[in-house]
Amino acid sequence: MSCVLFFNTQLLSSNLDDDKFILGKSFFTIPWVASPSSTTARDGLGPLFSANTCISCHPSNGRGNLYSKDGVTSRSLVARLSVGNVLKEPNYGTQISINGTVNTPFEAKINIHFSKKNIIFPDGEIVEILKPNYSLKDLNYGSLHKNTNISYRMATSLKGLGLISQIPNEQILSKEDEFDKNNDGISGKANWVYSKITNKIELGKYNHKANVAFIKEQVANAAHDDMGLTSSLNPNDNCTNSQENCLKESALSKEIDIPDFRLDAISYYIENLGIKRVKKDEEYLKGLKLFESIGCAKCHSSSFTLSDGRKISPFSDFLLHDMGADLSDGRVEFKASESEFRTAPLWGLSTLKKEQRLLHDGRARNIQEAILWHGGEALKAKENYMNLEKKQRKKLIEFLEKL
Ligand code: HEC
Ligand code: HEC
Repeated sequence: MSCVLFFNTQLLSSNLDDDKFILGKSFFTIPWVASPSSTTARDGLGPLFSANTCISCHPSNGRGNLYSKDGVTSRSLVARLSVGNVLKEPNYGTQISINGTVNTPFEAKINIHFSKKNIIFPDGEIVEILKPNYSLKDLNYGSLHKNTNISYRMATSLKGLGLISQIPNEQILSKEDEFDKNNDGISGKANWVYSKITNKIELGKYNHKANVAFIKEQVANAAHDDMGLTSSLNPNDNCTNSQENCLKESALSKEIDIPDFRLDAISYYIENLGIKRVKKDEEYLKGLKLFESIGCAKCHSSSFTLSDGRKISPFSDFLLHDMGADLSDGRVEFKASESEFRTAPLWGLSTLKKEQRLLHDGRARNIQEAILWHGGEALKAKENYMNLEKKQRKKLIEFLEKL
């Protein structure tokens, strides 16, 4: 039995390789430094990067914050760039780096601004929600291509990802209903994505648009896009052709920053992060019934069976749904259209802290605000929620707060 897991979490490996877990954890948490340096195991940061550790965007392995302690935009919020269906911008590449090494200027900073919007419930209650107007400032490499789309993405929680990786694909695919044959207004669709690991098209499960199929692949992408670290899956630094300093600095070291055994260890660490086990008492069952009765569970599915027979309740179908114009981020990723997102898993909401925000861009300050932004295929469920009596709405939120 391992000392690193708690017994109230759903365990992942029954015989955990502690050494590998601890090695992975150390590369996840300890800051990387720019090369050349004396700590060669951990150098190679940048030249362009957004943070120097994974944990600074995924605090306590959880989701990110919108603001850092000093009130500025947190690094957990990243800006992804695309021009049409091409997932990069000529001068800045795929993602804005808010930091650079001494000789390479950062690319830009993210500015957060919200406008307020009132929502009136049928029973007269009025609540205020925040509509995001995020933008880039201090662009250091000239202007962006005039058709650039910017998608702002909040770092997700990493707890329970190993369990998600063990859901048999057939179970996810059995919930698909792309052309809404059952006529319930909801048409879950799988994202089929290219994988650099298998060199094949695979079922996408990870990130807000399910654009990545394997945890290890996302670990390599995170290391590359968020920290400027190369690996066998992303062997070149994230400089574009117009970023001379970045290219020059990158050319000084041809070595791969994260060798395969370390990439494997980080992935192993993430695959073994447990998720809190929820007590399925009478209160829970009542809440679940309410959740199901207003149509939330049509996307936020509460039950999967892993190949070893264990049942898990991630409250997601891991499929894409059109969430309407207000949530659209204008970005197409494989089969995911501008307004389609992967159903966000709701397990772990009980650990939500005040400073942590919900939805793909962190606009929602609490669970109710997240629900009120639901549109498109989820419009009916949102309306059902709004039509509940205030007491029932409170009960539903209390149920979600315990997941
Ligand atoms: C600069 C902030 C930042 C850093 C640093 C960062 N991440 Fe992330 N991470 C994100 C964001 C934002 C997303 C969601 C991306 C999306 O939806 O496209 C994410 C998503 C993920 C996911 C997918 C989670 C899911 O729910 O499907 C994994 C796994 C992950 N990161 C692992 C890592 C690892 C490992 C590191 C360190 C090597 C790391 N991240 C460093 C911001 C960051
Ligand atoms: C048509 C599918 C669908 C239905 C129905 C639906 N949701 Fe969602 N839900 C989503 C998707 C997709 C997201 C992610 C959207 C985003 O990040 O912009 C989401 C996000 C959320 C979030 C934010 C989670 C997070 O980690 O940021 C909460 C809370 C939530 N839903 C609760 C509910 C509740 C409660 C209901 C019923 C009233 C409901 N949802 C109905 C698809 C659905």
